[in-house]
Amino acid sequence: MRKRLSNLQKTLADGEALACLTAYDASQAYWAAQSGVDVLLVGDSLGMVVQGHSTTLPVSLDNMVYHTQLVQRGNAQAQHPAYCIADLPFMSDATIESALQAAGRLMKEGGANMVKLEGAQRVVPIIRALAQLGVPVCGHLGLLPQSVEKHGYKVQGKDAVSAQALFDAALALQEAGADMLVLECVPAGLAQKITAALSIPVIGIGSGVHTSGQVLVLHDILGVTLGKAPKFSKNFMFGQGSIQAAIGAYVAQVKARTFPDSSHLVAE
Ligand code: KIV
Ligand code: NA
Repeated sequence: MRKRLSNLQKTLADGEALACLTAYDASQAYWAAQSGVDVLLVGDSLGMVVQGHSTTLPVSLDNMVYHTQLVQRGNAQAQHPAYCIADLPFMSDATIESALQAAGRLMKEGGANMVKLEGAQRVVPIIRALAQLGVPVCGHLGLLPQSVEKHGYKVQGKDAVSAQALFDAALALQEAGADMLVLECVPAGLAQKITAALSIPVIGIGSGVHTSGQVLVLHDILGVTLGKAPKFSKNFMFGQGSIQAAIGAYVAQVKARTFPDSSHLVAE
């Protein structure tokens, strides 16, 4: 049976961290779910690790729908299918109208359980509209890869003013109806404070160990990233004999809260 939001909440209530991982096709999704991954993210990072672009900007909504379909086909064959989140690609959430349409396609054609979108106060009315229609939504704050052309890959929340803005935005997204939040490259102390203040799960990437769970890009943990893997990531293939075992090691370290450690911090 496919995981629901309530299953994730139960996992957290039991004191367990959520292990999230990106997946882009059926076999990746199947083996990640078989290895105990709680949440599969069909990330627009596929623009880089699958399509070979240098940013996520060229990824189309059609691309996202297609890869979500592949992931959900493989996921459905696992013993315990994971919860599946799909990214709204760059510009698909430029207006409330277009965001609703994009989310509809990701759920109806792709079979996603939840959609994720990047941004702070800008996305509040979009999240409200999605939530009112019964669409589960995940926010994404901190480093925003879709804004790279304007802001670069900039770590946020380092000074007091931007830390307060990030904290306020996290509360605003929850208030608007977000069901989950990803924090990318946020200082660990701030990520911990936000996690404590929110009632929804906060999933960290490069944001320290004190969040409700972790997410990484599959290609990074398997050491097959094109070019240099980010500092906050870790190659879990070392010492493992198979991809399934490497994903299992990632899940085990997230659950044991031994990943990430201080060597993976980027935002301090
Ligand atoms: O696209 C992606 O893979 C993501 C994660 C890095 C959070 O958004
Ligand atoms: Na993304």
